[in-house]
Amino acid sequence: MTPRRGDNLDTVWDRPAHTKAKHDILVKYLQAWFAIMGGSSWVSKAGVLDGFAGPGVYSEGEPGSPVLVLNALLDHAHFGRWDGTEFIFLFNEQDPERYASLDAVIADLANDPSRPLPKNIKIHPANRNFSELGEELLNGVTNGLIPLFAFVDPFGYKDCSMDLIRRLLQYDKGELFIYFDFNSVNRFATAGNVDDRFEELFGCDDFKNAPASGEERRIFLHDLYESQLRKVCSFAHVRSFAMVNEKGRIGNYLFFCTRDLQAFDRMKAAMWSLDRSGEYRFEDRLADQEVLFDPELDTRPLQDELALHFAGRTVSIDEVVNYVIADTPYYSGQVRRSTLKPMQADGRISSPNQVRRGTYPAGTLITFP
Ligand SMILES: C[S@@+](CC[C@H](N)C(=O)[O-])C[C@H]1O[C@@H](n2cnc3c(N)ncnc32)[C@H](O)[C@@H]1O
Repeated sequence: MTPRRGDNLDTVWDRPAHTKAKHDILVKYLQAWFAIMGGSSWVSKAGVLDGFAGPGVYSEGEPGSPVLVLNALLDHAHFGRWDGTEFIFLFNEQDPERYASLDAVIADLANDPSRPLPKNIKIHPANRNFSELGEELLNGVTNGLIPLFAFVDPFGYKDCSMDLIRRLLQYDKGELFIYFDFNSVNRFATAGNVDDRFEELFGCDDFKNAPASGEERRIFLHDLYESQLRKVCSFAHVRSFAMVNEKGRIGNYLFFCTRDLQAFDRMKAAMWSLDRSGEYRFEDRLADQEVLFDPELDTRPLQDELALHFAGRTVSIDEVVNYVIADTPYYSGQVRRSTLKPMQADGRISSPNQVRRGTYPAGTLITFP
């Protein structure tokens, strides 16, 4: 049968390598997020919205995002302790045949006699386009918004408006993990024939000013999207991870957005714990250097950045760690032993109150010459 969808794929398709990478991050991060939600006495309900959920399965039987998201909770070692929290899952897929597949996959999971679904899990599959679903959700809110993690994973640039994202995730505890299909944005941003779509996507029309080509264009479009997520949606912390293919080309980005510094830290920890794959890699930049999310940790860009940023000052270890979390691709677990200790050995920092050289417990002051 000839596929007739805009994306040119069948109901179920082969899972590309970058999708596996995306899934690994999603699962790693959600394991941490569920633990925070389940362990908080003030959270009685928490929601996960998979707005572009797909058919629930790939051609070789690999699980799709809804299954992975659910299993991240069901298989969590501490799930049994969280019966005071209701976890609500909303899986949305617009295409009718993919939705039928998704519905069947979820029904199998929910009715598995070897693992009955716990009462504090509620699953809602939906067959809408994302904007309709978003409006319905917002109209249905009567008792205030709940902590919500939204995974927004479209093909291309359609139907994920900045304004809807803002409204859905306006509650302080709203978080977003969104796939930004840079390839198609790059192709059409200044073509003039889909400006309405791009105005929705970016929440402004500044994309029309993108340079015509090259690195400058990429940086312009990327930075515009990032700054709109901060400005329009008031996310305090936004970080993008570039997905780079075997040929070294950036195809797209994953953006993670939150208002919680610890959540931001956990997402970066998830990025750094990814297995290495020959087919894709993730990268970021710091201090004019490439930062590869690679198990073989290279903290030289971070060392250079800290030396520059704190030059001439004596600051607390907390200030250093918070800066690393908020403003660099690195996370808190990489600061002391992997970054500051070698900097001290190289004479790039010193401390006026350190008890033991190379260790930085709370209260330690660090001098950057
Ligand atoms: C990249 S795939 C999702 C993959 C899935 N999240 C996963 O990781 O396994 C995007 C899905 O969005 C669906 N879709 C396309 N436009 C949509 C829309 N406007 N609203 C909701 N779903 C849409 C497509 O049919 C496709 O299944």
